[in-house]
Amino acid sequence: MSATPCERASKVESLVSLISKHATLYVEDSHKIGNGEEQRALDSQIQGHADQVGNLCGELARLIQKPDQSVQTPEDGILETAMAYTKSTALAIALDMDFFKHVKPGETSATVDELAQVTGASQKLIKNVMRICADNSIFREVTTGAFVHTKRSLLLRERDSYVRAYSGYLVDDAHMAGAFLPGVLRDHGFQPPPDRKQSAFCKAFDASDPYDYYHSTDLVRGARFDRAMQGNHAIQHHPIDLVISFDKLPFGAVVVDVGAGRGHNALRLATKFPHLTVVVQDHESVIFPEEDQLDIPPSVEGRIQFLPHDYFDEQPIEDADVYILSNVLMDNPDSDCKRILSRIATAMTPNKSKLVICDKLDSEARPVYHQMSQLHIFSCFNSWSRDIDEWRRLMTDSADGLAVDRFWEIGSGVVLEVGLMGRLGPIDGAEVVVSELLLASPVSSCTTLYVGVSGSLWEGRRTPPDQPTHPGDPPTLMLFFINFEMKPGQSLPKPKLYMPLAGIPESKIATTLTNFFNRHDKPDQGRIASRTSKWQYDIAMHDLC
Ligand SMILES: C[S@@+](CC[C@H](N)C(=O)[O-])C[C@H]1O[C@@H](n2cnc3c(N)ncnc32)[C@H](O)[C@@H]1O
Repeated sequence: MSATPCERASKVESLVSLISKHATLYVEDSHKIGNGEEQRALDSQIQGHADQVGNLCGELARLIQKPDQSVQTPEDGILETAMAYTKSTALAIALDMDFFKHVKPGETSATVDELAQVTGASQKLIKNVMRICADNSIFREVTTGAFVHTKRSLLLRERDSYVRAYSGYLVDDAHMAGAFLPGVLRDHGFQPPPDRKQSAFCKAFDASDPYDYYHSTDLVRGARFDRAMQGNHAIQHHPIDLVISFDKLPFGAVVVDVGAGRGHNALRLATKFPHLTVVVQDHESVIFPEEDQLDIPPSVEGRIQFLPHDYFDEQPIEDADVYILSNVLMDNPDSDCKRILSRIATAMTPNKSKLVICDKLDSEARPVYHQMSQLHIFSCFNSWSRDIDEWRRLMTDSADGLAVDRFWEIGSGVVLEVGLMGRLGPIDGAEVVVSELLLASPVSSCTTLYVGVSGSLWEGRRTPPDQPTHPGDPPTLMLFFINFEMKPGQSLPKPKLYMPLAGIPESKIATTLTNFFNRHDKPDQGRIASRTSKWQYDIAMHDLC
């Protein structure tokens, strides 16, 4: 039995008061700051309030807009969820029959009869599809069987819009992949299949790889995918530009966008930062499509280059200031990411080139939309988003010296700034110098040394106050101090090495030291202890000498 208007009104009132209560708690908790565990608990509390507000708002909207459906039994709720796929199916049909074009913008409605005449489709099908779309505010049924546009349906009217392409890709390609996912998982004991070739997408399209399929087999679907990807940065509010200071790069700095899609990202950067030269790298079919070439404004001409490149191959542009991997690694399992990253690391100039990664971040408190997007990527590409520790590990496992310097969490995504330390590293040089010093120096002396960070081992000894640099010193020279600490009760002096590491990220230091000791088969010696706030590190050197 449905509720009386009076009962409905009081339910509306109580929902509004609950929404207000949770929204207030959300705001209050958002202003609190905790440490570590405390902050994680707080984040989950905040997400709890956000979820409550979302659910209650949904209930309120249903109660006001669809009073006949507002009382839902648990069975109804389950079946509605199970039938959610029909929303995608209806949108796929509406796009195929292009109702978005056949309904004219403005107040004049199009009737089912008229739509049947232009499309030749079944009236019952049209009514059904249009009503399912209208239930999601894509079209509005103004009188029985007559539909007008809404803001949403108008967006889908624009033929070349990324929203239309993205929706088409989701309700068609991704929807097919999703339908195959449970079967693929059953075949693999509900573990991710070992590689992308066994993804649900590949099963659905009988393809060996989703991107091979888009690049070589079905170029029409491929072109739609590429157009869809042009929306990525708009959807994500241009996260790279928000956090990376492209304006600080020197005149003529080179930015290489790897797996760039059509080049929308690079084009925006080149337009916004006239001192940059940008290189767009992707598969040939993507950067030189048969139709729909990118419009290059005159201000960018000569500063943008389109270069077909397979990111598993050797990176042809060496020594670039910035390499970008935007929404690329999310589509690849760790083994492939390592191949992609090592190619870029080889081309990077240590202590100069930066790699900027814009990708998904796995973290605990996430609205359901992000869970849905994870399942979508898993269906198509067989990969899961990574948490920050997994990102850090992926870098250090991919190339010697590669490490996350800084990162920013933005919505459900992350921007990582990744640097490459000198391959020889300051500590390699130190080993030689320290050995020599142990033989030559008086115990308890304090000596200043300059060590070549990338290449030559060391440049010689300079003593204070003749420091810190000489004119013409290359920037790769690094200052450090060696001292011998003598303590009562200790029979031998303990060699200590101090490096001025201010400004160098802790993770990079830790990685370099750990790698150094591992290389010398002394993993236990990778004992690093922070000594002062100036990042001096105490290194157990005695076993080395
Ligand atoms: C999810 S899209 C991201 C596009 C763009 N970077 C962005 O953020 O919108 C992934 C891109 O990687 C490209 N790609 C896939 N395999 C590739 C390969 N082996 N070499 C180069 N690019 C590849 C695809 O063509 C696609 O444009």
